[in-house]
Amino acid sequence: MLSGKHIIVGITGGIAAYKTATLVRLLIKAGAEVQVIMTPNAREFITPVTLSTLSGKPVISEFFTANTGQWNSHVDLGLWADAMVVAPATASTIAKMATGVADNMLVTTYLSAKAPVFVAPAMDLDMMRHHSTVHNLELLRSYGNHIIEPATGELASHLMGKGRMEEPENILKVLQAFFDKKQDLESRHIVITAGPTVERLDPVRFISNFSSGKMGFALAEECASRGAKVTLVSGPVSLKVNNPSISRIDVESASQMHDAVMDVCGDADVAIMCAAVADYRPKSVASRKIKREHDDIPVIELEKNPDIAKAVGQLKRRGQLLVGFALETDNEQSNALEKIKKKNLDMIVLNSLRDKNAGFQVDTNKVTIMRRDGSSKAYACKPKREVAADIVDEIVELLKKD
Ligand code: CTP
Repeated sequence: MLSGKHIIVGITGGIAAYKTATLVRLLIKAGAEVQVIMTPNAREFITPVTLSTLSGKPVISEFFTANTGQWNSHVDLGLWADAMVVAPATASTIAKMATGVADNMLVTTYLSAKAPVFVAPAMDLDMMRHHSTVHNLELLRSYGNHIIEPATGELASHLMGKGRMEEPENILKVLQAFFDKKQDLESRHIVITAGPTVERLDPVRFISNFSSGKMGFALAEECASRGAKVTLVSGPVSLKVNNPSISRIDVESASQMHDAVMDVCGDADVAIMCAAVADYRPKSVASRKIKREHDDIPVIELEKNPDIAKAVGQLKRRGQLLVGFALETDNEQSNALEKIKKKNLDMIVLNSLRDKNAGFQVDTNKVTIMRRDGSSKAYACKPKREVAADIVDEIVELLKKD
């Protein structure tokens, strides 16, 4: 699992730094290659000699190596890594990572890293529950980082509470589980629709909705990180993807999205219909701006857009999975089940506009996943990337059943 993996271990200035020596030893024993980066303060708690001996590599803690003047490239390190673990992560480093204060080698490397990042906080209980720490950890989660929650117990201050860095053995288990899981969509092709569609009225006006695309993009990242080849068909959004396993097709209207999906879904193992597709479009699109010349109030005549999920459902092959989304305001469960049947879905992800912090524009979501047989599982409110992981876990289970 960890054999041959390149792991950056970032150490910051906290008492728990002594435990990180054990983590490095465990990683090396598991076959990983480890590069330790220490903040200048971390060196007050544990010596670089201990860590370089255990890792078999010189420890990096400055932008330049003092005696040779050699520049340590944070960009190269960021690209080299398969994962980065910051343990212990102090309140100060967490704040710097959350806000991009790149004043040391560790945070600079973090900002350059393309690999998943794991953060194991360690601090006193009052610091841990301070609004700023809670907020900064929330921000780190929303960027897709994995927070390894600290344990509750006796702290360096001799106070009892939450703030003890998780034990090295458990941090190792989190990493092993991550790399284990990462392979579960290998060689699968997943088509995902995301974002809103935009239906033009004239060259300056359109009909659309509030979808930000965040849920669909989080799903694309999650599937790609677990080994899938992803085709992401997206309506107009301001999000970016930076993953070679994701090919993005940008579209504007529901018709364009329909055509793009039909083109790419033939060989797909899974299609996830996450886009908020406009059900109707203006029957005619004015070639010039509609002017306010007359006293009459114009009436916009609409016509039906194609139902993309239904079209994919009609062509679905044996072994192909079709996942839909439903955003409801009332009769949530029965409406969702109705959609499963109508569109030949295998699973539907239901979110209710009645739930706070769920749905459009926000970074979190609270979903219930319902299967074709009517069984359902309700999840807590979580960052969209974690919701994406829950959805993909369900998909992987259904794929195994086929
Ligand atoms: N969907 C689609 N094409 C459409 C409308 C919806 O592919 N023209 C997909 C959505 O991406 C989602 C699922 O169908 O996965 C359900 O979308 P929703 O808007 O809730 O369903 P509708 O069939 O439009 O029903 P209603 O708006 O009446 O609730």
